[in-house]
Amino acid sequence: MRHAGHFVRLLALVAITVVGFLFVRSLVVPKDYGIKGHYRLSAIDDEAKREPRHIGSAACAECHDEIAAMWKAGKHHTPQCENCHGPGLMHTKVVAEDSTKGYADKILKNKNAIKRPTGIQECKWCHLKTFERPSTLKSIASVERHITDHKGTYTPNSKCVDCHNPHTTVVTPGKSGLASLTTAAK
Ligand code: HEC
Ligand code: HEC
Ligand code: HEC
Ligand code: HEC
Repeated sequence: MRHAGHFVRLLALVAITVVGFLFVRSLVVPKDYGIKGHYRLSAIDDEAKREPRHIGSAACAECHDEIAAMWKAGKHHTPQCENCHGPGLMHTKVVAEDSTKGYADKILKNKNAIKRPTGIQECKWCHLKTFERPSTLKSIASVERHITDHKGTYTPNSKCVDCHNPHTTVVTPGKSGLASLTTAAK
């Protein structure tokens, strides 16, 4: 029994550690943690209260009716406005608090307001051929080949919107896609 003291001290140390852990845990773990599972129950309400950053193409159409009509009637209505332009919530807030005239200024200051797509990068996300894309999605194997095949001149600054209207995909010979952004190309 000469060594019983060591054992008691070890036991006391373990007990202090366990009680200390439980005490600190009770301070830092939220009260409603673990009621339904390994999460804070009120987290559900907190998340539900957050304003969605995406507003949907129908909301864009309320103001950009001409572009929305072309997009809807054209061959490119599967990708949604915000797939290319990014989330629209900030944009509608900026528009609401400013006149159209002041808008250009405002957007330069607030780069998050709405994205002006590059006209090549977003296109490549969906259309550059990779093995995992569905074969039904029309894709191009190489930007350079595609452009030269269609009698264009390839440079490192070439964009898809040099030829294609991004909202309809229509190619208007002799015109850039941007020139016909709001006028439906025949
Ligand atoms: C409340 C009306 C309103 C809504 C809703 C709205 N916009 Fe706009 N938007 C405007 C106005 C006003 C301008 C500035 C004038 C213009 O260029 O037509 C503008 C400009 C733009 C521009 C040009 C930005 C630039 O850099 O010149 C883009 C791109 C755009 N909107 C996309 C969208 C998209 C995408 C949506 C939906 C997510 C959307 N807008 C929803 C009113 C709106
Ligand atoms: C496939 C990608 C794509 C989709 C989908 C798309 N856009 Fe665009 N949008 C572009 C590109 C690219 C530009 C040209 C940006 C530039 O100026 O270089 C543009 C330009 C615009 C502009 C500015 C027009 C101008 O005259 O300066 C507006 C406004 C706009 N888009 C609204 C919309 C709305 C509304 C929708 C949905 C109905 C939509 N876009 C869907 C790619 C897209
Ligand atoms: C989010 C994915 C997505 C992005 C980004 C996208 N596209 Fe598309 N594109 C599609 C889908 C899906 C189709 C098939 C037609 C449809 O269902 O709308 C298509 C069809 C096309 C077609 C063929 C239309 C036909 O004749 O059948 C062309 C050309 C095209 N896109 C060009 C572009 C260009 C240029 C850009 C960039 C401005 C772009 N796409 C960006 C998804 C995308
Ligand atoms: C020099 C002009 C030009 C440029 C730049 C260009 N295209 Fe095209 N593209 C065409 C023409 C012309 C067609 C033939 C179909 C048509 O008239 O819409 C076409 C067809 C397509 C098709 C349909 C392919 C099919 O199998 O039918 C896709 C997808 C496409 N382009 C995507 C793109 C993408 C993505 C870019 C940018 C990386 C791009 N294009 C740049 C001229 C161009």
